[in-house]
Amino acid sequence: MVKIKTKEEIEKMKIAGKLTAEVLEMIKNYMHPGITTQEIDKICHDYIIHKQKAIPACLGYKGFPKSTCISINNVVCHGIPNKEKIKNGDIVNVDISVIKNGYHGDSSKMFIIGDVKKKYKDLCKSTKKSLYIAIRLIKPGIKISKIGENIQKYIFKKNFSIVEDYCGHGIGKKFHEDPQILHYKNNSQITILKEGMTFTIEPMINFGKKEVYCCKDGWTVKTKDKSYSAQYEHTILVTKYGCKILTIRKEENINKILMNKK
Ligand code: MF3
Ligand code: CO
Repeated sequence: MVKIKTKEEIEKMKIAGKLTAEVLEMIKNYMHPGITTQEIDKICHDYIIHKQKAIPACLGYKGFPKSTCISINNVVCHGIPNKEKIKNGDIVNVDISVIKNGYHGDSSKMFIIGDVKKKYKDLCKSTKKSLYIAIRLIKPGIKISKIGENIQKYIFKKNFSIVEDYCGHGIGKKFHEDPQILHYKNNSQITILKEGMTFTIEPMINFGKKEVYCCKDGWTVKTKDKSYSAQYEHTILVTKYGCKILTIRKEENINKILMNKK
């Protein structure tokens, strides 16, 4: 069952989304070679708890041990922050989820660390673009399957692959709720978008093949062929005539995104 959020719930979702975006803006200044992923995690954790007076949604979620997911290079998602240092040439996803007043925000982006090969910069850029392409479609009345269909059309042209094992999700009082948002072409998603729905779109795009596996730690997801992987995620609200990106950052120009110029 897909929930339609009330006005009051939407106000809370906007606040949670804004805080989530602000964590990603804050951490930008620390994303340099030599910092460990657990140091990045601690900075985010302390910022969320002490500055935002909010809760990191990942911490303790189904037993996840840290406050953020940090996924480097061939790690697709759900990387557990640890002693590993990020280094020159890495592409790093930081995935932030914040709970405020009982409501969730969820967003992630890639950080390009120093001199990254052009082909991996292109992977990141195309992944971001595929998210924007999906966002531009969102309005009441369209089928959810349009999202995956259009992401796939763009990504396959670029000769990258789309991870099928993880998807976007409804979000609100619960971290993960209905509907599921698939990022590839499918016929199963008959649900029609309605004003007041909130969900994430979070395509995971691989440089090589789409196959992934989950490591023994129960969380870290890697590409089977060891190719690099990128992900961008936003939390979206369906509005009367389109949508609002609840986790938009200052560096993103919403008009350019919606006008197909970014
Ligand atoms: N932030 C992830 C998502 O986009 C969820 C991670 S679950 C965690 O849905 F437990 F690993 F944090
Ligand atoms: Co998510």
